[in-house]
Amino acid sequence: MIAIACDHSALEMKRVVIELLEEMGLSFRDYGTDTADSCDYPIFAARAAGAVARGECERGILICGTGIGMSIAANKIRGVRCALCSEPYSARLTRMHNDSNVLALGARVIGPELARMTAQVWLETPFEGGRHQRRVDMLTALENREPLE
Ligand code: RB5
Repeated sequence: MIAIACDHSALEMKRVVIELLEEMGLSFRDYGTDTADSCDYPIFAARAAGAVARGECERGILICGTGIGMSIAANKIRGVRCALCSEPYSARLTRMHNDSNVLALGARVIGPELARMTAQVWLETPFEGGRHQRRVDMLTALENREPLE
């Protein structure tokens, strides 16, 4: 199950990503927003990324104008590793190395085709584990205010 959410600036891009999820045969839950009325992105980031953190969804995709506000908000939630990506290379590497469980996209930064490719690569790429698991564990330790060294 993929959690998806956007703010008012990204309705059209959310539609594009939902189309991709349907094509890929992935089930999803849409956490809003549903209208073009101006809204507060942290609310929608918290809804979708919260579902990932609680284990109700395996991964999440958040879209706002830049993707920055959504990613900052999502990364405040314990257990969320949100990566803001504007191209497939970073999307691939953040899955392989960071085991990111949430992807943020900027609807005013990249076009629909690039967003689609970026999301597809992110959804298809597995975590590599190995030495990267140790580093991801360190991210969790930081979250728990534990010393790293
Ligand atoms: C909304 O105007 C805009 O601030 C929001 O979509 C996002 O870019 C915030 O980071």
